Amino acid sequence: MMRAAIFPNPLCCCCLFFFFFFSFVFSISATDIITPSHPLSNGETLISAKGTFALGFFTAPDSANRYLGIWYHKFPGQTVVWVANRRNPIHNLNATLSITADDASLYLTTSGNSTAIWSSPSFPKSFPNPIGQLLDTGNFVLKSSNSSSFLWQSFDHPTDTMLPGMKLGPNLKTGIDRNITAWLSASDPSPGKYTLAIEPIGVPQLVIRDASGNWIWRGGPWNGFGFSGAGPNQYFDLGLYREFISGFNVSTEEIYYYFNSVGDAISIITMDENGTARRYGWQASLQKWDLYWLAPSDPCDFFSTCGINAFCNGSSSPICYCLDGFDPKNPASWSRGNWSDGCVRVANLGCGTNGTDEFMLVRGSKLPDTTEAVADMRLDLDGCRARCLMNCSCRAYASADLSMGGNGCIIWMAEIKDLRVYADGGQDLYVRIAPRGKGSKRKRWVIVLASVATVLFFLITLICVIMIRRRKGKYFFGEQLISSPNWADEIMHKGNEGNSEILLFQFTQIVNATNNFSDINKLGEGGFGPVYKGKLPDGQDIAIKRLSARSGQGLEEFKNEILLIAKLQHRNLVRLLGCCIWGEEKMLVYEFMPNKSLDLFLFDVEQGLKLDWRRRFQIIEGVAQGLLYLHKHSRLRIIHRDLKASNILLDIDMNPKISDFGMARIFDANEAQANTQRIVGTYGYMSPEYAFKGLFSVKSDVFSFGVLLLEIVSGMRNAGFYEFDSWSNLLAYAWDLWKEGNLKELVDPALDNQFQHDEVTRCVYVALLCVQESPDDRPVMSDVISMLSNGSLNFSSIKPPAFFAMKNASGSKRPLNLHVNDASNGLSVSIVAGR
Ligand SMILES: *[C@@H]1O[C@H](CO)[C@@H](O)[C@H](O)[C@H]1NC(C)=O
Ligand SMILES: *[C@@H]1O[C@H](CO)[C@@H](O)[C@H](O)[C@H]1NC(C)=O
Ligand SMILES: *[C@@H]1O[C@H](CO)[C@@H](O)[C@H](O)[C@H]1NC(C)=O
Ligand SMILES: *[C@@H]1O[C@H](CO)[C@@H](O)[C@H](O)[C@H]1NC(C)=O
Ligand SMILES: *[C@@H]1O[C@H](CO)[C@@H](O)[C@H](O)[C@H]1NC(C)=O
Ligand SMILES: *[C@@H]1O[C@H](CO)[C@@H](O)[C@H](O)[C@H]1NC(C)=O
Ligand SMILES: *[C@@H]1O[C@H](CO)[C@@H](O)[C@H](O)[C@H]1NC(C)=O
Ligand SMILES: *[C@@H]1O[C@H](CO)[C@@H](O)[C@H](O)[C@H]1NC(C)=O
Ligand SMILES: *[C@@H]1O[C@H](CO)[C@@H](O)[C@H](O)[C@H]1NC(C)=O
Ligand SMILES: *[C@@H]1O[C@H](CO)[C@@H](O)[C@H](O)[C@H]1NC(C)=O
Repeated sequence: MMRAAIFPNPLCCCCLFFFFFFSFVFSISATDIITPSHPLSNGETLISAKGTFALGFFTAPDSANRYLGIWYHKFPGQTVVWVANRRNPIHNLNATLSITADDASLYLTTSGNSTAIWSSPSFPKSFPNPIGQLLDTGNFVLKSSNSSSFLWQSFDHPTDTMLPGMKLGPNLKTGIDRNITAWLSASDPSPGKYTLAIEPIGVPQLVIRDASGNWIWRGGPWNGFGFSGAGPNQYFDLGLYREFISGFNVSTEEIYYYFNSVGDAISIITMDENGTARRYGWQASLQKWDLYWLAPSDPCDFFSTCGINAFCNGSSSPICYCLDGFDPKNPASWSRGNWSDGCVRVANLGCGTNGTDEFMLVRGSKLPDTTEAVADMRLDLDGCRARCLMNCSCRAYASADLSMGGNGCIIWMAEIKDLRVYADGGQDLYVRIAPRGKGSKRKRWVIVLASVATVLFFLITLICVIMIRRRKGKYFFGEQLISSPNWADEIMHKGNEGNSEILLFQFTQIVNATNNFSDINKLGEGGFGPVYKGKLPDGQDIAIKRLSARSGQGLEEFKNEILLIAKLQHRNLVRLLGCCIWGEEKMLVYEFMPNKSLDLFLFDVEQGLKLDWRRRFQIIEGVAQGLLYLHKHSRLRIIHRDLKASNILLDIDMNPKISDFGMARIFDANEAQANTQRIVGTYGYMSPEYAFKGLFSVKSDVFSFGVLLLEIVSGMRNAGFYEFDSWSNLLAYAWDLWKEGNLKELVDPALDNQFQHDEVTRCVYVALLCVQESPDDRPVMSDVISMLSNGSLNFSSIKPPAFFAMKNASGSKRPLNLHVNDASNGLSVSIVAGR
């Protein structure tokens, strides 16, 4: 992608002198505009205001052809990001870019020929004083000198590079498709074979097309964080940390993907001549471009490798498999590795008449092709399931927006196509299948085989265990442990010193307790890996968090963290009972919380009734105490960084206990990214300075606490606030009601007006203080606690809360959801446009 410097060019040697002479002359009066009286001639360049970009003439590498283009001026090497006359090179050295005064048009001519090699559209005379200006974003615009709106802009006509601030996708009104099309070759910028574009039909998707319009690769629909099929690496720095912020916007006018730089970081996306799209970031310390992401990147990435009703598994061989309940359509060619015919159903669907169909869960999916799919942002997964069962064409459903806690869904109205499963990341897809029992002969066989295999597996494991025990004469803790036998003692010892007991579990104990990590025992998928319920032989229930392998932490560090965290003892923190290390596996064992998490009560109409105001207030106080302890009284000063309703667990008496504390320490404390669908921090709970600058402090936890407080009072999610069209989120809604003094409106209807008005007022006041834009305006937890309990609190005036994540006025904010034009009417995102 990084093209070589333009000169010296053999044909141009004689002009070098002139070139440098002119460069010199014009660098003195570097300007970023051309006007009718000051055109741009060969050898001159426009330099954007801060010197980021240059616009001028360059020679394509290994070629004599010259072009008008834009490149990064402030980086060495000439990274060309835009070419005006990509189809018509300049053979004559004397070219000029001019602007016509009377009809406002840019045109590129060569000496002695008045026919333009390239020109922008022209605009009527009503635009006085037209100028062409190179902006510091790399956008070359045509506008009226005293106006801020553009008549024409190069950002609407990208070549092979997407810059921060550009939009990728069709404008349905003007018909302009902003796509990025590769150069034909490294020495020829004319449009090449491959294009990265947004496909608007069905639920919009990111795709790479070839010259005849066939899809090479499909990034899939936007899932709130990224494109479903762009793979885990697309989140390089997660679009959140420093590097860039990205989003996707769907309206009846336009559909586009965009990203913006954060701070000084610069990232671009390019399309190359061989069909690979890449994202690069500028590495300032090394003065070079770093590759962040690319697609397609493996055989499963190519469009529909496995045909319909099949899935591609990149980590196994062969890579293609029929979905459960399907057989190869053409078994002979399938077994030869020609998968193009895909698979067919073994048993026909019941199709509604009896309502007997079932759904099979495919975890870790890249969502299948959504050309024939519809999205409905109002339904939850149960609603989706019901809707799918109502229509015989429906084949599958999945959550449409993971950033909103799984709100909205996509429903497939055609056979599953281009499905792949990821070892890590991906999302849940529910595929409709005929009722089990039909075609069950085959199933039973599978079950029998599976049981035999399991038994064999256990026998072999057992034999291995016994052999290793014999050899080492020691407990089987896993290899590393055997090599450092002292550490078990050490843990016991130190643990006791801190007045806590931390147990070292054997892997076999954990396997037995969880039925070998069976799905039935799975409680859920936390940010750092799955959580299982287990039962110890003495009957005690435990919860086991199986940390994903990528914690990036060495054994020694892990051990130290556990020792530290085990010392944190507070009645509002979930108690760590012990851990287990086995090879690469690291597991944490916690006390089991029978009432699961707060969100299950808070955001559920029926369960919400179980939380009366007294309980809610106790929960608020408990969480505040737990947080205060983490921030202040524990010797460690832990910043939780992911406080949210689903991380508040409830014991049998509904006492709140904060969970997942210390995880940010166990995972690399800087940028813990555990599950690819998740970053440390959750949208809706993240403070502005953390979300945009990666800065965190105890005040970021205070912000999350404020959001949680409002959620507990209102029973509504901050992220997921669809019902109230005129407010962008819960914070804005609460703020408006606070100003009006109408808090009754805010309180969860489940409370049926049974609440202490003064307590609610205090809670909302404190919450609004906690969610202030500036960390300095937020209280610390000790103040929060005293304010919550202070009956004679005096409500001084407060500033409006931060609405950062919801607004998009400056274009630099991140949208939280697939923007639906009119969510209040439940309009589906199913935009149909002609190809
Ligand atoms: C370029 O312009 C210069 C001066 O205007 C002229 O002398 C020269 O012949 C021109 N070159 C070509 C190839 O037209
Ligand atoms: C003038 O330029 C146009 C466009 O590049 C080209 O088609 C035409 O042949 C040129 N005419 C002459 C006389 O060179
Ligand atoms: C721009 O300047 C022209 C005259 O130079 C004036 O007529 C016009 O109103 C100005 N437009 C704006 C938006 O200021
Ligand atoms: C890319 O956009 C251009 C300009 O809007 C359009 O003519 C072209 O068909 C698009 N190409 C693809 C492959 O979408
Ligand atoms: C594209 O493929 C050709 C032939 O394999 C290779 O020479 C060229 O370097 C590739 N281009 C890029 C940008 O990777
Ligand atoms: C994909 O392959 C890997 C390695 O063979 C296996 O562990 C995993 O279970 C497979 N995934 C699915 C969904 O079949
Ligand atoms: C794979 O099978 C399809 C249809 O059966 C056939 O059209 C295609 O040529 C085969 N491809 C290869 C590489 O054999
Ligand atoms: C519906 O159920 C009846 C009997 O319960 C069965 O005969 C019929 O085949 C079923 N229909 C479908 C479409 O499965
Ligand atoms: C089922 O879905 C298809 C495709 O969206 C639609 O044309 C059809 O009317 C639907 N049928 C029913 C009964 O809703
Ligand atoms: C989405 O597009 C609409 C209409 O163009 C605009 O009002 C809104 O601000 C955009 N949102 C984002 C996040 O870009």
